[in-house]
Amino acid sequence: MDGVTVIDHPLVQHKLTIMRKKDTSTAGFRRLLREISTLLCYEVTRELALTHENIETPLTEMDAPVLAGKKLVFASILRAGNGLLEGMLDLVPSARVAHIGLYRDHDTLQAIEYYFKAPEDISDRLVIVVDPMLATANSSISAVEKLKERGAHNLRFLCLLAAPEGVEAFRKAHPDVPVYTASIDSHLNEKGYIVPGLGDAGDRMYGTK
Ligand code: PRP
Ligand code: URA
Repeated sequence: MDGVTVIDHPLVQHKLTIMRKKDTSTAGFRRLLREISTLLCYEVTRELALTHENIETPLTEMDAPVLAGKKLVFASILRAGNGLLEGMLDLVPSARVAHIGLYRDHDTLQAIEYYFKAPEDISDRLVIVVDPMLATANSSISAVEKLKERGAHNLRFLCLLAAPEGVEAFRKAHPDVPVYTASIDSHLNEKGYIVPGLGDAGDRMYGTK
């Protein structure tokens, strides 16, 4: 699908399978999410622009590549987005961070906002929004709307698992925002869960169920 990248690296797919297993422990789930997020980060930043800087090696001078432009912003949709955020910050420690607090109302599946904090100058930066799950897309659509209201206009959305219904809804709402995911699963069930999925990502990360 246009604007959607499925990250099919073997290590990503292997780790995702272990995360899906219902008997994987909270500690194991959290560790795998952190590991997998570094691999996803590698893919979502693959096209970043480079410039050159003159440096001295112990032997000589050279023009060496460095990232161009301002530092990235990682925007984490709470709670579960923080599981992806940590591994991404391992790889890009200088990134700025936005937090968007959203939870799904279990009956309506609408996203309810309870927190928002982002760097002032997000309009000048590439913003990578992270949340492991793209189900109905109500949460991610609302998070991106809020970031755009604050001036962001160069955005990418990174998740671990997506439902086809969510991908379609997200792309319709934000056709300018490319989606990166490790898998597009079969469908959403009647409660808005991704099938086969991995269950509730926040609960599995934090052991809250
Ligand atoms: C989960 C997940 C996403 C959202 C996806 O969060 O982390 O944010 O559901 O579903 P959607 O695409 O249908 O909106 P949840 O609401 O369970 O909150 P939590 O992260 O605090 O557990
Ligand atoms: N949120 C989750 O954590 N899991 C799903 O399957 C759907 C939404």
